[in-house]
Amino acid sequence: MPRTPGRIWADGDRDLAEGLMAALRAPQDDREEEQAIAESLTHPLHSYPAKLHPATARILVDIVGQSARRPQPIVDPFCGSGTTLVEIRAAGMRAIGIDLNPLAVLVSRAKTYTVPARRRKEIRDAGHEISGQVLAAGKAARRSGAAAAPIRKPTGFDPNARNRRLASWYAPHVRRELEMIAAALDDLRAHDPELADVLTACLSAILYKVSSRASDTDPTWVEKNVPRGAAARYFAQRVELLFAGLGDFPPGHPAEVFEMDARRMAEVIPDGTAGGVITSPPYAGTYDYAEHQRLRFDFLALRHRQLDEGEIGSRRSFETNAEAQQFWQRALADTLDAIARALAPGATAAIVIGDSVAKTRAVFALDDLRAALTDELVLEAWASQQRPLLGGIEKRVFAERPKAEHIVLLRRR
Ligand SMILES: C[S@@+](CC[C@H](N)C(=O)[O-])C[C@H]1O[C@@H](n2cnc3c(N)ncnc32)[C@H](O)[C@@H]1O
Repeated sequence: MPRTPGRIWADGDRDLAEGLMAALRAPQDDREEEQAIAESLTHPLHSYPAKLHPATARILVDIVGQSARRPQPIVDPFCGSGTTLVEIRAAGMRAIGIDLNPLAVLVSRAKTYTVPARRRKEIRDAGHEISGQVLAAGKAARRSGAAAAPIRKPTGFDPNARNRRLASWYAPHVRRELEMIAAALDDLRAHDPELADVLTACLSAILYKVSSRASDTDPTWVEKNVPRGAAARYFAQRVELLFAGLGDFPPGHPAEVFEMDARRMAEVIPDGTAGGVITSPPYAGTYDYAEHQRLRFDFLALRHRQLDEGEIGSRRSFETNAEAQQFWQRALADTLDAIARALAPGATAAIVIGDSVAKTRAVFALDDLRAALTDELVLEAWASQQRPLLGGIEKRVFAERPKAEHIVLLRRR
């Protein structure tokens, strides 16, 4: 969510609308408290496009949690990097996440891996051991002029194709360190797959920082001077951050996170059993989650065909498909149907959506959401905040009506 302030307006139940306005305002408040929330728990572990601000998520957990009956879970069916799942767990509630992106699932599981202290210490010990080995191997190789560590060959992936895709993004010494960390995680996976996955999220977290890719959402090649040993040290820092953050959760179980299409959530959530939903679906035509993570998918050897085919509202779908707007509205309607089925009677769903430009047309997300509403869901309150216009097309298509981000609160009858 952007940090720029903008005009806020709201409607519906007054108390709820005020809560939603506070949730929208939270990222722009420069108060130390909001900063501290963003840096708390495991929130800073991993970057992610369109990550929800943790302070917004915390307020929404408070609002939605009021109508939830424990131990009913709170669900985020587009969980991304797990911001809401972290806050749900921090509030001591059961969390269920769903996302089609395998990386989102990996990161969300790691960020909510609330386990007893002894197990948590194993994360730290294994992570530091791997980082230490990589640093020592680098020094030894430099002293002896020994040959570089062999490039890893993940099973089921063509090593030459993988190599071609990765070669230009990493300096050779960085690539060697990363491959050594990944190979050590492969070894660990053979006897402790859960621990290996948690540590893989720490590796994933540094993959763009040490690459020549500008950022998650910007694939431009940029020159970066990454010192020797930096990748291994950054990895150890992420492990430390995760270890410390996980220690601040109240006792409970890790979030259950499923890699699947949100519209099929009935397969894992029996009808009428969710205590609430808090989610932020993709904004129409804005991001390409499949493209944004491609370098990570290639490096970590993550399969992403389901995401390539099932991602809703992607930018590429609007650029290549003349019927993308209809698909988008259908996807929104199917998602709301699935949410209505999952919710217990009287439970609420907070949905964060944003206006956008899809190809060259304005998409007014609140209108689309209202059009997709079923009889089972009542619109209790909503709040909107005006967002700045970026570039010429936005200025043209939003000339008559402001571009805004919205939080909508729905209640299951
Ligand atoms: C706005 S992001 C969520 C960000 C999240 N709130 C966070 O703080 O990181 C939207 C997410 O929807 C996921 N997604 C797109 N199409 C999906 C689908 N059909 N089913 C489930 N997830 C989907 C994307 O992978 C992305 O993680």
